[in-house]
This record gives sequence, structure tokens and C-alpha cells, in this order.
Amino acid sequence: MSTEKLRIAIQKSGRLNEDSLKILKDAGVSIDNGKEQLKASARNFPLEVMYLRNGDIPQYLRDGVVDAAIIGENVLIEKGKDIVRGEKLGFSKCRVSLAVPKSMKYKGIQDLDGKKIATSYPNTVNEFLKEKGITADLHIINGSVEIAPNIGLADGICDIVSSGSTLFKNNLKEVEVMLKSEAVLAISPEISEERKAILEKLQFRIKSVLNART
Ligand code: PRP
Ligand code: MG
Repeated sequence: MSTEKLRIAIQKSGRLNEDSLKILKDAGVSIDNGKEQLKASARNFPLEVMYLRNGDIPQYLRDGVVDAAIIGENVLIEKGKDIVRGEKLGFSKCRVSLAVPKSMKYKGIQDLDGKKIATSYPNTVNEFLKEKGITADLHIINGSVEIAPNIGLADGICDIVSSGSTLFKNNLKEVEVMLKSEAVLAISPEISEERKAILEKLQFRIKSVLNART
């Protein structure tokens, strides 16, 4: 019998972590937990889970260090357009949007021409603005992006919006929705045939879980 295991990456901590483990559990895959180990094996399925930082996952997939991942589509759009996207998983739904201070009289995207925008999604913003014929000065920051306009670092921001409460608390308003996203199963272009066969079994189970949820 083969000893191959499918190596699947999930978010180490953050909004996707819990729901990612939950969908694996609902698919009948029990993981001996211990997030501190950064790697854990399933008891009843040939699978290993690696707990990684969201932003690092596209590169791990590309390099074939992991065979698959549960990740936000927004991260793949920003950093992994070359990565194969499998099933949409129906959780961690969000938008990637542009927001400006509530006090700004925003009439349209042209109002951001020549302005400073703080974001963790530079590729996504650049592509969006380019399409609209707008040039902006991007400030790349990795977290707490919504504080930028209040401390004079930027005129607007681009970040994930889920409930909208972070925008609200920071006196910002969503003015352009650039894309909509949810968690998705991502597949490494380097996956071996043997592991692909394991992945297909997992995908079959995940599909049943998704069908049962609707
Ligand atoms: C994320 C994201 C937004 C916020 C959106 O930040 O960057 O700031 O959640 O969610 P909401 O619309 O429901 O408020 P997170 O709290 O994960 O922290 P970070 O930006 O510091 O990584
Ligand atoms: Mg944030």
C-alpha cells in the first residue's frame, strides 16, 4: 500500500483557519491538532496539514512544497494567478474594495487620480486602476490598513471588507468594489499523479459536504 500523503496548506491563524478545519472535519478527515507544530497528520485519511501564513501559500503551491491549499480567492488573484483554482468552498466571503474618508465628496474613480492609496493588495489595485486609466501612488502595508487615512499616510485605502465594521470604526466609506472573494481549494501545478488521486477523493467528499450545506 502507498505511504504517500496529500500535503494541504491552511491558514495558520485568522479568519479562514477555523472554517478550513471544519470543512475537512465534515469531510470525515480528523486531524490530530496542535497548531504549534505547524504540521499535523490526519488519523483516517492520507493527508498532512501545514499551517502557513496566507500570503506565503501561493509560492508554496507554485514550488510544489504543498500539493493543495484552502485559501481566499483574493490572495490567489493578488499573488497566484497561475495557480489552479478548484471548488469554491462557500465561506470567508468578502470583497476587496477601495474606501475613502466619509467626509470626502467622492463622485467617481477619477477622484482618486494622483492620490495616495494604502493597501496590502498592490497588484489587484494597480490592475483595477490601470483599466480605469487612473494613476495613484500606492503605499504597501501588511495590516491595519484602515488606519492610514486617519494618520495622514494616504487619501484612501484598498482592503478586504467583510462585515464593514472596520471601515465604519475608522470613518471610511466603501466606494468601489474591485472583486468578490471566498475560500477556494487551490491546487499546485507540481502535484504528483499519486497525490492527485488522493486529492480527487478529498474533492469528492468536499463536494458532498457542500451539497449537504446548501
Ligand atoms: C481584515 C481586513 C479588514 C477587515 C475586514 O483585517 O484586512 O481590515 O478584516 O473585516 P470587516 O469588514 O468584517 O471589519 P484583520 O482583522 O484580519 O487584520 P489585519 O488587517 O491587521 O491583518
Ligand atoms: Mg485589516
